[in-house]
Amino acid sequence: MYEATATAPVNIACIKYWGKRDTKLILPTNSSLSVTLDQDHLRSTTTSRADESFAAGDRLWLNGKEETIKEGGRLGVCIKGLRAWRKQVEENDSSLPKLSEWPLRIASYNNFPTAAGLASSASGLAALVASLARLYQLPQTPSQLSIIARQGSGSACRSLFGGFVAWREGSDAAGSDSLAEEVAPREHWPEMHALICVVSDAKKGTSSTSGMQRTVETSTLLQERLRIVPGRMDAISKAIQDKDFESFAKITMVDSNSFHSVCLDTSPPIFYLNDVSKSIIAVIEELNRSSGKIIAAYTFDAGPNAVIYALEENMPKVLGAINKFFPTAEESEDPFRTTAEDLPASFDYK
Ligand code: DP6
Repeated sequence: MYEATATAPVNIACIKYWGKRDTKLILPTNSSLSVTLDQDHLRSTTTSRADESFAAGDRLWLNGKEETIKEGGRLGVCIKGLRAWRKQVEENDSSLPKLSEWPLRIASYNNFPTAAGLASSASGLAALVASLARLYQLPQTPSQLSIIARQGSGSACRSLFGGFVAWREGSDAAGSDSLAEEVAPREHWPEMHALICVVSDAKKGTSSTSGMQRTVETSTLLQERLRIVPGRMDAISKAIQDKDFESFAKITMVDSNSFHSVCLDTSPPIFYLNDVSKSIIAVIEELNRSSGKIIAAYTFDAGPNAVIYALEENMPKVLGAINKFFPTAEESEDPFRTTAEDLPASFDYK
């Protein structure tokens, strides 16, 4: 039996991906850019095994619950793509075991609540692709692997890299150039920190997949967004290179608001922000105003939870403001601070 384990962290977009030009291949209507969080907080861990003696058919468990792998479905497409690459490796070296022909057993765990609206599909699919790439000893680069991860869930392609990551929309109809690449490694700007404010851990009402499709079909404002995003991609990349927090923060906040505006411009409208989310926006705007400069940036994905970016030196001030206006946050422990020991020691592959 052959086995490999890989982990992938959650990433939080500063320039949002919202819209597909090809729903099957998951090709986006715009490029996006995100920050990958550190491994020790929100991450998925996936173990893949291949064995000649497994009963036919691949099987997968997510947090201990078996998921169906549908042929042509997102998981099925990722596994098929990686298996095809393994086959090429075996064809070039006949001494290698024929892992591509053996059934797979895959187990994936998140160290955070899956339903909390915290981009679990991104880390989950990225960890799946990384663990199979390791099991199959694939020669492909992370960018090439991101082409496969993208077909599992668009935002997953960015979680194959740490630090600051761009997903280039690409122009090829087959998607060969719609991939993720590093803009800057984590070490380039280690002072950048992210605070996650869990406003609600309820499962979101409208999934990203169906929400963005509805936006593409009905929003006229989306066209304006698509005209503006390329300039923002250039400007935020420059801000990251220059470690210019104010520019980074301005672009991050304006793009989050632009994304939620196109959601509102969708028919029927999609509301991801709730009153607490809006109060967080007000608190951060006021904090920036009273500081005389921008020291914090909020961003919201397809749900009410806020992610606040700030430099380490300003985080105490940000935390002070959040705790003052949302006092329950003070009492709760960090629910994500789990360690490898929290994961089950062995998986049930029967
Ligand atoms: C708002 O990657 O979850 O988080 O490709 O359909 O799986 P699918 O969508 P998904 O969408 C993420 C949307 C977002 C913005 C972002 O992460 O860029």
